[in-house]
Amino acid sequence: MNNFVYDIPVKVYFGENQLSHLGEELNKFGTRVLMTYGGGSIKKIGLYDKVMDEMKKHGLEVFELSGIEPNPRIDSVRKGAQMCKDNNIDVLLAVGGGSTIDATKFMAAGACVDHDPWDFFNEKRAKIDKALPIVSILTLSATGSEMDAGGVVSNPETNDKIGRVDPHVLPKVSFLDPTLTYSVNQYQTACGSVDIMSHIIEVYFNMEPDLFMLDCFMEGMLKTVVKYAPIAMKEPDNYEARANLMWTSSWAINGFINGGRAKAWSCHPMEHQLSAVYDITHGLGLAILTPRWMEYCLDETNVSKYVQFAVNVFGVDANQEPMTIAKEGIKRLYDFFFKTLGLKSTLTELGIGKEHFADMAFKACGGKILKGFKNLTQEDVIKIYEMCL
Ligand code: NZQ
Ligand code: ZN
Repeated sequence: MNNFVYDIPVKVYFGENQLSHLGEELNKFGTRVLMTYGGGSIKKIGLYDKVMDEMKKHGLEVFELSGIEPNPRIDSVRKGAQMCKDNNIDVLLAVGGGSTIDATKFMAAGACVDHDPWDFFNEKRAKIDKALPIVSILTLSATGSEMDAGGVVSNPETNDKIGRVDPHVLPKVSFLDPTLTYSVNQYQTACGSVDIMSHIIEVYFNMEPDLFMLDCFMEGMLKTVVKYAPIAMKEPDNYEARANLMWTSSWAINGFINGGRAKAWSCHPMEHQLSAVYDITHGLGLAILTPRWMEYCLDETNVSKYVQFAVNVFGVDANQEPMTIAKEGIKRLYDFFFKTLGLKSTLTELGIGKEHFADMAFKACGGKILKGFKNLTQEDVIKIYEMCL
């Protein structure tokens, strides 16, 4: 097992009615707030008014940037960074799902530099030395952006969707109120749940040494999503279900489960190419890719990990040949995504064909090779995309 540093300095207010602490938390950073949000769901659920009231009560001056897109675009980031500069913003308040929080992270960093925020993502990988403080109010359980140091931004001009991780953009405070996710529809609940599972699967299936304790946590988190995602879809206002999904989303990606393992993710780099070119929902792309990737990578050398997954997560009968158990585990995952959660199971159903696969594979591999559970060449990645048709 490798050495590691555990440092997750995000203050979390979890549960209903915690927004009463919003004003006092924002006040710690100043008085001028840039509030960011997406296409309007926060107005429909009455959250916008609540947040505004709370901020007014505390004498905060609020500037607003709305319309942040799912798969957020660099233009929104540019706009937000400029607004911070023009209005001397002290703190950013992101209210929404992962897209809003991700974009806000790089507005906060962009506000502190003179260059284009896209330079954080392109080949320049501009250094991030500081960022304005960020507070988030999460409305969709999925990405874990509320408690991690990463974000993903799209540039439609170049067909790129690129992630960046930097501790300076960690939210200082995040509000996690499961009741705010009651309005998330069945489709987004399903996609968010797949995203949570994928964040865990990317670490669980890893060639670096395992730590038994962390594997148990991961299996527990996967079982939590398998249990509660279908309940949240049937009963959108089931607090227990929404709360379990929300806290799992944060812990799936806040660094805890890494335990010193180098990040070597496979499905995310492949999926980001799909949402870059076709603007599909991240979780849907992951659902289609993940079981195919598992199938493609399975061999005699790694079968024991699949057996562990099948038995401990899906309760597959352990008294069978390892290969049989492993394949049954993949089938159970497949059935969970496409039968239980009801997601579309192929790229063809989304109107996606082969035409960009070579380009997408090149980018997913960073022009070379995709290092992960099993190292994948560009030809391997193309084959996995083809399995998804
Ligand atoms: O824009 P609004 O009107 O708010 O509607 C959103 C959007 O249409 C809606 N929604 C959010 N909360 C709602 C709600 N609708 C009803 N009630 C609510 N309470 O849901 C739609 C999707 O929102 P979005 O923020 O795009 O979803 P998600 O949280 O899944 O974020 C996806 C983005 O995060 C990136 C993805 O690639 C994608 O760009 N990721 C970020 C990561 C990170 N920061 O670490 C890791 C992930 O792997 C992922 O790549
Ligand atoms: Zn993800």
